[in-house]
Amino acid sequence: MELEIKRVAVIGAGAMGTGIAYVCAVKGCDVSIRDVNEDLVKRGMGKIREMIATGVNRGKLTPKDAEEIVKRIKSTTDVAEAVRDADLVIEAVFEDLDLKKKVFKELDELCPSHTILASNTSVLSITEMGSATKRPDKVVGLHFFNPPYTMKLVEVISGKETSDETRKVATDFTVSLEKEPVLVKDTPGFIVNRILGAALGEAIYLLEEGIASAKDIDKACVLGLNWPMGPIALADFVGLDVVYHSGKSVGDALGEDYLRKRSQPSKLLEEKVKAGHLGIKTRKGFYEY
Ligand code: 3HC
Repeated sequence: MELEIKRVAVIGAGAMGTGIAYVCAVKGCDVSIRDVNEDLVKRGMGKIREMIATGVNRGKLTPKDAEEIVKRIKSTTDVAEAVRDADLVIEAVFEDLDLKKKVFKELDELCPSHTILASNTSVLSITEMGSATKRPDKVVGLHFFNPPYTMKLVEVISGKETSDETRKVATDFTVSLEKEPVLVKDTPGFIVNRILGAALGEAIYLLEEGIASAKDIDKACVLGLNWPMGPIALADFVGLDVVYHSGKSVGDALGEDYLRKRSQPSKLLEEKVKAGHLGIKTRKGFYEY
C-alpha cells in the first residue's frame, strides 16, 4: 500500500522553508519546522503567521482555517524532535552540498525507516545527497518556487537510486498540495534553473555591458515577453546570493563544453530547420499543429 504523507518536517525556516511549511499545513498536514537557533525559528514562525494573516485577508482562508493551521504547525531547534514521526522531510537549508549531505546523514539516522527525505535544492545533486544516507532509494528532490503559496510548479527530481515508489509518493504529494509536478532527471539546475540561470545571467550581462538600464531591461521582458516581472527585479526577488551561487554551480558542473555549445544554436534545432519543420507555420516544429 502506498505511503500517505500526513506528517511533514521542514528543515530550514528561511523564505522557502516557511513557505513550504505554510502550504503543507494549509492542505492539512501536521508540520514541524526546524532551524538551528531560537532566533531563526522565531523569525520563521513570524513569517508563517504573516502568511496565514494574508491568506485570511485575501479571502484564501477563513478565520477558522487559520486557527486550525496554526495548531498544525510546531517549531523547534531540535532535529530529532522535528522528524521523530515524519512521513516526509523537506530539507530547505542553504545551497551548499557539503552542508546538505551532513543534514541528510543526520536525517537518515534520526528518521523512522519509512520516511522519505526530500531536498528543495534548486541546483544541487539529489544523487549525492542520497549517497550520504543508507536509504538513497527514499531520497528525492522536491523543488518548490518562490513564493510557494502561489507558484504552482514543483520539480520532482529522481536521483540515480531514487525508487519508482518514492518518486510516485512524492509526485502524488505535490498533487495533494494542489501543485503541478514535472519529473526531471538529476542534472545541475534541473529544468527551471537551467533556463532561468541563462535568462537572468544574460540580463545581468546586458546591464554590466551598459546596453540598457535595469528598468528598461525589465520593461522589455514584461511588455515584450509577458513575464510577470522583469529579470533584474526577479533576481532581486530571488536573492542575488541565490542567483550567483545557482549560476556558478550550474556553470561549474556543466563545464566548458556546456558554455561552448551554448554559444551556438543546438544540433536539434539545426536538424528541425533543415527538415523544414519550422513550427506553427509549417504545422510541425517541436509539436505538431
Ligand atoms: N496565502 C494564500 N494565497 C496568497 C497569500 C497567502 N499568504 N498571499 C497572496 N496570495 C495569493 C493572492 O491572493 C493572489 O491570488 P490570486 O492570483 O488568486 O489573486 C496570489 O497569491 C498572488 O498574490 P501576490 O500579492 O503575491 O501577487 P502579485 O500579483 O503581486 O505577484 C508574484 C507577485 C507572484 C511574485 C509575481 O510577480 C510573479 O509571479 N513573479 C515571478 C515569480 C517567479 O518567477 N518565481 C520563481 C522564482 S525562481 C525560484 O523560485 C526557484 C529558486 O530555486 C531560485
